[in-house]
Amino acid sequence: MRHLIEPMDFTEKEIRNILDLANRIATNPSLYSHVAEGKKLATLFYEPSTRTRLSFESAMLSLGGKTLGFSSAEQSSATKGETVADTVRVVSCYADIIAMRHPKEGAPLQASMYAKVPVINAGDGGHNHPTQTLIDMMTIRNRKGRLDHLKVGFCGDLKFGRTVHSLTKTLMRYEGNEFYFISPEELRIPEYLEKKLHGKNISYHECEELESVLPKLDVLYMTRVQKERFFNEEDYIRLKDRYILTEEKLSLADKNMPVLHPLPRVNEIAYEVDDDPRAAYFEQVQNGVYIRMALIMALLGLEDPGKGEVVFDVKS
Ligand code: NCD
Repeated sequence: MRHLIEPMDFTEKEIRNILDLANRIATNPSLYSHVAEGKKLATLFYEPSTRTRLSFESAMLSLGGKTLGFSSAEQSSATKGETVADTVRVVSCYADIIAMRHPKEGAPLQASMYAKVPVINAGDGGHNHPTQTLIDMMTIRNRKGRLDHLKVGFCGDLKFGRTVHSLTKTLMRYEGNEFYFISPEELRIPEYLEKKLHGKNISYHECEELESVLPKLDVLYMTRVQKERFFNEEDYIRLKDRYILTEEKLSLADKNMPVLHPLPRVNEIAYEVDDDPRAAYFEQVQNGVYIRMALIMALLGLEDPGKGEVVFDVKS
């Protein structure tokens, strides 16, 4: 049985297969509208979410399957003191696959050790968000035609932003990528990530100012300041509007530099940017459904009707 807990769980080839399948689904969704008939997806969300949960549900419904679940810890037996291990053992009897979001780092990993069905990490604390990473990769590949030899800028809360951590780890695997980490001093990337970059001899730069870096970038990944992970409100207020991307600033950037954002956006991208052809964040949302459809098919060991073979050989 296969799970998706962290970005390194999939090989480069498996990632390519998922992205290719997601693109095939995008061009012919009706071909896939019955492949998961009779299957159920449980969404166990212990932390708020709009996009991720609805996009998982939409993906399963688009494959002809059904969904069940809860959207906050308060709605679950966690309030009675039930452990994640027990909850997933129980839910394994109700569903064929589980998507879990949890404020505690490592909770989905623990769940995967006790579940009898595949578990997908839909975000664990400030740690990982591997499905968002697949979406980001699909969007970058579709826009730039490649996943290597890119100068990628990450801007905003690089300390707590799990989407940044997961995407950096994944893009590190591709040759020639170079990273620009743009953040206030307090919100720099975690030390463990720096060590990984050093260990692999990957070229990266850290700076506080966005404008001077913009002209160099092939891709810009904006993030919001993660209010819920701050210990004190004053720091959040001081840092939250540090970067606001406007059309004026974007005039410094390459004409083909996509602007990604995992959403929700708070203030960090002005609304005027939405009409710029470089804005790719709503495309990410649409890609999210296709990626999650592809992922559910892969982990359930389903056959791709577009190719006549299973996506992943889940028995191996
Ligand atoms: C992200 C998350 O939950 O980490 N949102 C998402 O899933 N698209 C980003 C965020 O909350 O800032």
